[in-house]
Amino acid sequence: MAQNTQEKMKNLYIKTWGCQMNVYDSHRISDVLMPLGYVLTDTPEGADMIVLNTCHIREKATEKLFSELGRLKPHKEKRQEETGERVIMGVAGCVAQAEGDIITQRAPYVDLVFGPQTYHRLPEMVAKLTGARKKKRMIDTEFPIESKFDLLPNEHNSQGAAAFLSIQEGCDKFCTFCVVPYTRGAEYSRTIQSILDEAHKLVDNGALEINVLGQNVNAFHGVGLDGGTADLPDLLHALSEINGLKRIRYTTSHPRDMDDRLIQAHGDIKKLMPFLHLPIQSGSDKILDAMNRKHTGNHYRDIIERLKKVRPDLAMSSDIIVGFPGESDQDFEDTMQMVRDIVYASCYSFKYSARPGTPAAAMQNLVREDVKSERLTQLQALISEQQYEYNKTFMGKTIPVLFDRKGKEGGKTEGFIQGRSEYFHAIHVKGNERLIGQIVDVHVKETRPSSLSGDIVVSEYESDLKTAAS
Ligand code: SAH
Ligand code: SF4
Ligand code: F3S
Repeated sequence: MAQNTQEKMKNLYIKTWGCQMNVYDSHRISDVLMPLGYVLTDTPEGADMIVLNTCHIREKATEKLFSELGRLKPHKEKRQEETGERVIMGVAGCVAQAEGDIITQRAPYVDLVFGPQTYHRLPEMVAKLTGARKKKRMIDTEFPIESKFDLLPNEHNSQGAAAFLSIQEGCDKFCTFCVVPYTRGAEYSRTIQSILDEAHKLVDNGALEINVLGQNVNAFHGVGLDGGTADLPDLLHALSEINGLKRIRYTTSHPRDMDDRLIQAHGDIKKLMPFLHLPIQSGSDKILDAMNRKHTGNHYRDIIERLKKVRPDLAMSSDIIVGFPGESDQDFEDTMQMVRDIVYASCYSFKYSARPGTPAAAMQNLVREDVKSERLTQLQALISEQQYEYNKTFMGKTIPVLFDRKGKEGGKTEGFIQGRSEYFHAIHVKGNERLIGQIVDVHVKETRPSSLSGDIVVSEYESDLKTAAS
């Protein structure tokens, strides 16, 4: 029997680009394919199925996909020759959703194209591609009436100590630069019950931290346990009662949905980590208006002030776009001033790129590429400086770290582990791999612009033993 199962095992290779929701989707895609005998592998060599889970947020996404497909095609052909079986090459995610037809036209060796809302139907799609009456190829980029969340199997593949859990999908905000409302569709929130069920399974599988995800996660409004509507603070309180779950985070938020209860939750829920990613996009009210963000710079400053009142040590992170159409030198200076005032612990910044079909793509008054590049360089210098200064304040401190993976130091991987502080710093230390999956105190001995390192703190009990033994 065991032998049989072994023989039927097939290798599944998934490459993921884009946001954390895509990372979550890739986990779930592997869960859906597991009952069909597919087991994850981390190399495309010898893979019986290849899935590229794509992102469409900025330009060059499609070109990146085609160059990756070209690179992977020989692996598909070689494996097919070896096994005599069809290797399914699949494209998933937001490029698949936006450009499904173009993909199969330009790369006819792609067998399967499926969007972010249809991967629960994968077993059916795979059966049609490999069954007796083989289909040449399949495209499924619908927005089905049924929700994938109600139909996905339980989590099989453990995500490890720090797990993602999608609670909300899609977005109704329609920022003028953004493709998400088109690729992921209208906003949809899961029920509290289904989220709690999944959270319990993640914890049973070893998760100590759960990061609940949504494109606009604080607009969450799912059906509550009592049948009424529950919001994000309700969910965070419910999650905080799960024994064994030590840390909770949520990503990504919109300033418009940071209401009083959510702000207060940062003061009340001990397990809610003191780090918040709250994208501002620009510091200029004129540009924020053109972006259809529906908030001003002062509104954002006020939210942060209120958050810091309930959680003074809260570390802030953000996304900023430079060179949006019509952005003047003064508008850019307003963004720089905003960053100087807020002081971010980390921040992502991007050059605006027009996305076909979005309202901003039709705007006039474009900013020249060289001006965008110059602004990005200036902004990134300021952000790096802030991040380094922030990291330096941790020098000599002892902080709890959740270790979730093997680490690396000076090119060496042996004996190094990596984790996250409560403030979301990446931390590298020399330590035994047995510590992966645990929260352990670390004494910070080195601070770098984008990470910290230090020593594992040996407990007093162990040091006593050492003293007694010596
Ligand atoms: N839901 C998230 C955004 C997801 S996209 C939110 O509302 O914050 C991640 C980031 O990519 C955005 O915050 C934005 O800063 C950037 N981005 C989106 N579209 C872009 C575009 N057309 N050009 C440049 N950056 C863009
Ligand atoms: Fe895109 Fe704006 Fe929605 Fe974020 S809030 S996903 S930037 S439309
Ligand atoms: Fe990219 Fe789609 Fe996420 S466009 S950022 S993968 S929602």
